Amino acid sequence: MIPRDFIDQLLSRVDIVDVIDRRVPLKKAGQNYQACCPFHSEKSPSFTVSPTKQFYHCFGCGAHGSAIGFLMEYGGLPFIDAVKSLADEVGLKVPEDASFQHKPKTGPDLTETMLKAAVFYKEQLKSSPRAIEYLKKRGLTGQIAARFGLGYAPAQSTALKQIFDNYDAPELAAAGLVIDGDRGRYDRFRDRIMFPIRNTKGQVIAFGGRILDQGEPKYLNSPETPIFHKGSETYGLFEGRQSIREAGMALVVEGYMDVVALSQFDINYAVATLGTATTPIHARTLLRQTDKLYYCFDGDNAGRKAAWRALENTLEALTDGKEVAFLFLPEGEDPDTWVRANGKEAFENFLRREAVPLSAFLVREISRDINLATEEGKARMLKEATPLLQKIAAPLFSALIQRQLGETIGMRPNEVNALINPAVKRKWQKNESRPTSPGRTQPSICRVMARALMLRPELAKQVDPRQLPSGDANAQLLGQLSGWLGHLPNMPQPAGILEAARGMEFEQAVAALLSEVIDLSESWEPEAEFNGGLDQLNAAWKRRRHEELSRVPLDQLNPDEREELQSLLRN
Ligand code: GTP
Ligand code: MN
Repeated sequence: MIPRDFIDQLLSRVDIVDVIDRRVPLKKAGQNYQACCPFHSEKSPSFTVSPTKQFYHCFGCGAHGSAIGFLMEYGGLPFIDAVKSLADEVGLKVPEDASFQHKPKTGPDLTETMLKAAVFYKEQLKSSPRAIEYLKKRGLTGQIAARFGLGYAPAQSTALKQIFDNYDAPELAAAGLVIDGDRGRYDRFRDRIMFPIRNTKGQVIAFGGRILDQGEPKYLNSPETPIFHKGSETYGLFEGRQSIREAGMALVVEGYMDVVALSQFDINYAVATLGTATTPIHARTLLRQTDKLYYCFDGDNAGRKAAWRALENTLEALTDGKEVAFLFLPEGEDPDTWVRANGKEAFENFLRREAVPLSAFLVREISRDINLATEEGKARMLKEATPLLQKIAAPLFSALIQRQLGETIGMRPNEVNALINPAVKRKWQKNESRPTSPGRTQPSICRVMARALMLRPELAKQVDPRQLPSGDANAQLLGQLSGWLGHLPNMPQPAGILEAARGMEFEQAVAALLSEVIDLSESWEPEAEFNGGLDQLNAAWKRRRHEELSRVPLDQLNPDEREELQSLLRN
């Protein structure tokens, strides 16, 4: 058996949205995320994942579970392997247990190897006046260098021998730190400023290395490895997460140096893609962190093209309520040079005033080079807009763009709407008719209370089993659950309750309750609902008890019952 404490700890470390999103791309829908269900065939999404409850449920086929359950079902893994695999992802060690045979993990831990290298490069920076001079010349202080863990890879071809006793170990190659050439093995990074790339958990998964002087290539990056996938990682997200939350926005720039330079000017919400175009994964990851996303590009043609690709890849990650805008810098400038020349305040004003909203940029770009004075031109523009509109899963946003398209070509929005491929329209209507949460009919008090317990299990102790009405299935369930939860040594979070219930007679009932709370709004207050229910149960019980005791002749009541009746009569 794996201790339940460990399961709770594991579930609190992983984010089910990340776990599922990596396998089944999710879209934000209100407070939850959705996708077409991977467990049955469907055309409109009823598979729902709750970030706050760390639980998934398909309103179509009823599949449900925690992150562990998902890996079991989706990956066909036995329970223990699913736990193991999740634990690996978050760097937890599954406790050893006699009954739990734990096979040695296949292969070494690459993140440990990377960490060792990062520490080494950082140390080397301290003893390289040339590298320090370079960073100073670029206006960076030691504090910012430390924030980003900047380092220096010495010029020797096998410098890493100093820290790896076995320089020939296969993991050095697997981590992309060395290259096996004809004349033997040598360090990939030599005489470069090192930018460690961290995942959102803070583990170093790759490096970008900049040459100090002139030379090719200017930037050398780690290759794709088992722990590094360029298209899904964002430089600076780990370092900037908190500031992104505080600022309510993220700014995507092109270079590592831009992120670091902006931070030097106390602009800490910038991140960079890793020398690749923005992918839908980038957009989704960032839009999950914040509602406002700015992309910053050069003002030249290449910048505009890059911005357009970012737009195309962002459309499918967009949900209503998100704001995406594009900032174009004057030709020849990048955020690094711009902020250095003009400072923080000017940069932020520039961002606020000059950023072009995604909708406006879209309309502007598709009407470029089209003569809108002609009917043909208008038709062509609508035709170009259609596939883009089809990518958008956010109905309000799509409507806004249609209105802007209409204004540009002098048509009413509903005319635009009718002309644009009816498929777009059909898609929304389907979305709107997706299954809604169960419980349209008024649920019983006990059911509501049982739901509340899924979110606030510590309330279980307040249930007085005597007060539960008999012959009511929900009351019986509430009694069972509160008895069970009330005796758990520590309180699990929702997904943890499901794991704790694994194999118990009420496992299915717990899953059903969780699927009912998954779509409840954030304003649903479990404690208030629970206490309201408790009051009603208590009042009903008092009435029953009053009737019961009143039926008995007074002289047949024992002193306790007599006192109870008196107190019932008093209030
Ligand atoms: P500085 O010249 O140091 O200010 O960097 P920069 O960010 O201004 O560089 P640039 O705009 O040329 O490049 C932006 C990003 O593209 C970099 O951060 C790298 O991720 C990537 N990049 C630039 N040059 C190269 C290269 O030669 N090879 C690879 N693989 N990536 C590069
Ligand atoms: Mn630059």
